[in-house]
Amino acid sequence: MEPVLSVRHLTKRFAGLTALSDVSFDLGRGEILGLIGPNGAGKTTLVNLISGAFRASEGDLRFEGAPIGALPSHRRAKLGIGRTFQIMRPFPGLSVLDNVAVGALFGTGGGHRQLAIARELAHQKLEFVGLAHRADRPAEALGGPDRKRLELAKALAMNPRLLLLDEVMAGLNLAELEAVFAIVRKVRDEGVSVLVIEHVMKAIRSLSDRLLVLHHGEKIAEGKPQQVLSDPTVIEAYLGRRRAAHEGAGT
Ligand SMILES: Nc1ncnc2c1ncn2[C@@H]1O[C@H](COP(=O)(O)OP(=O)(O)O)[C@@H](O)[C@H]1O
Ligand SMILES: [Mg+2]
Repeated sequence: MEPVLSVRHLTKRFAGLTALSDVSFDLGRGEILGLIGPNGAGKTTLVNLISGAFRASEGDLRFEGAPIGALPSHRRAKLGIGRTFQIMRPFPGLSVLDNVAVGALFGTGGGHRQLAIARELAHQKLEFVGLAHRADRPAEALGGPDRKRLELAKALAMNPRLLLLDEVMAGLNLAELEAVFAIVRKVRDEGVSVLVIEHVMKAIRSLSDRLLVLHHGEKIAEGKPQQVLSDPTVIEAYLGRRRAAHEGAGT
């Protein structure tokens, strides 16, 4: 079966710094791929390249077989690539419902959608993530866990076939995390492919069908969670980091 997303030799250079180096992988239909790696490994950069926030320095990106590397982000969103942002940014002054409605207008088929219909769709998505009871509140009044739900609802309202989740679960406790995971699994069960960045290792390993590990912008491992997390190269990437942080703290 053709992969939903195909990444080949993807490289991103910022003045003097290679944030992502020659990364290749495929993402299948309805697959959850966990993207992990120490801080600064290039995870957000990869998401930015796939969503179109950044243009790659080199390499090839295909979505459902079609090259997308030259398309601006709004065109990629219309094709079915939805994302959340690591830094939450609800539109201030807009209600929770209208924040999500903006997602509906921005995503697949959004251009032809009327506001009333976008709001209806937004309401469905708020129900899906368990936030319908807050629909009329100003978005900036939401607390941490509810903001994550809002981010998720916004991305889902774009009606994506590929969903990019960048640390959408950061700061949640285990129970809240499980609730968001249940939503992500429900999304996947509807045939959506998911690329998810998450720090809590126990959590990401149980959520992901496969893991991909980045370190200094390079792919150092890819495969079943069990196998990847017992890979000495991966362990060293994390331990080396922890050791360095520990030594730094001691001085
Ligand atoms: N817009 C940018 N301009 C310059 N350097 C950047 C930019 N975005 C990311 N970087 C650098 O690229 C590297 C990878 O960053 P990032 O993708 O955010 O890592 P991660 O999400 O894995 O923590 C880091 O060294 C970071 O400082
Ligand atoms: Mg990041």
